[in-house]
Amino acid sequence: MPDATIRSILDAVPLPAVFLGEGDRILGVNARGEALFGAVEGRPFITMIRQPTVLDAVGGARAQRLPQTARYLAKDGTQDVIYAVHCAHVDAGPATGVLISFEDVTNQQQIGQMRRDFVANVSHELRTPLTALIGFIETLQGPAKDDSQARDRFLGIMANEAQRMNRLVRDLLSLSQVEEMERVRPDTRLDLTDLLGSVLRNLEPLAEKAGGALQSRLGEAPLYVAGDADQLRQVFGNLIENAIKYGGRPPEVQVQVTALDRDPSLREPALSIAVIDNGPGIDPVHIPRLTERFYRVDGHRSREMGGTGLGLAIVKHIVNRHRGRLRIDSALGQGSRFTVILPRAT
Ligand SMILES: Nc1ncnc2c1ncn2[C@@H]1O[C@H](COP(=O)(O)OP(=O)(O)OP(=O)(O)O)[C@@H](O)[C@H]1O
Ligand SMILES: [Mg+2]
Repeated sequence: MPDATIRSILDAVPLPAVFLGEGDRILGVNARGEALFGAVEGRPFITMIRQPTVLDAVGGARAQRLPQTARYLAKDGTQDVIYAVHCAHVDAGPATGVLISFEDVTNQQQIGQMRRDFVANVSHELRTPLTALIGFIETLQGPAKDDSQARDRFLGIMANEAQRMNRLVRDLLSLSQVEEMERVRPDTRLDLTDLLGSVLRNLEPLAEKAGGALQSRLGEAPLYVAGDADQLRQVFGNLIENAIKYGGRPPEVQVQVTALDRDPSLREPALSIAVIDNGPGIDPVHIPRLTERFYRVDGHRSREMGGTGLGLAIVKHIVNRHRGRLRIDSALGQGSRFTVILPRAT
């Protein structure tokens, strides 16, 4: 079969593909294959790929006349790309050989990895309080059976641990709900000044308990957004709570609302809500990862404060759902500024 015919058949394959004739010479390559490997037609296959698993699969397909699959790791710039390589024996007279196609499975692999990490993280987060609970139950059933003082103390710790698990489960549910709704744009018109006022009132006691205060400059009411009130309360609740928890001692937290005629990133009128603290700040290396689930800068401190590390992941999904932006500016020793930018409604 002329090479042009082989090539036109290969061009119909929706993946990068090459055809190997006898003796492992590349008889044809489609346009997608050339984009990936260059002009390899006529060359020996070994000059295109040297990974033994792929060579074995090609050899296997040829010898056994059965389809074989292998994994091929390539680099695209600095990124690793993973291909599933499908090798099939073709018996068509002069065009007898092996058809090899390359399916990019990087995303599938990453999703799989993320799911495994997520399950591992959840299990780890639940195991710690659970181990503590089991330990205290055993102590109360055994050695501390008749010690009423110890009982009171242990029950207090057990209540804390149970509450931690409760918060974790609540946050996980909330995260999955938010993810599910992410594509549905909220459409209730809300006055943001009003909403922020109520969040601030609710968190005032927490700031006072830490010896600090909340200050706000909310702008001239009403300032409208199209939003989901419960979710936006969750966003600002978490940001302000973080500013209190991780801010300086005593915490000085400021909430500033600015109306923008046109936000450059949203390209429309917007409201910018900044939550600013006087804390130790965040090293820039951590900033891009803060919105990952379970990511904490100082895991020990966060856990001590009862944090699950899911707060900012939830914040990010909610802000996305509102077609907004979340910006984090911080430097060590300079405090932090978390800014939410939301499209403004009329
Ligand atoms: N204002 C801040 N200053 C310094 N670090 C912060 C600030 N806000 C968040 N962080 C860091 O980011 C991490 C993630 O915050 P996030 O809100 O996602 O989790 P959390 O507060 O630990 O737990 P949760 O919000 O679920 O109770 C925190 O553990 C903390 O290390
Ligand atoms: Mg938080």
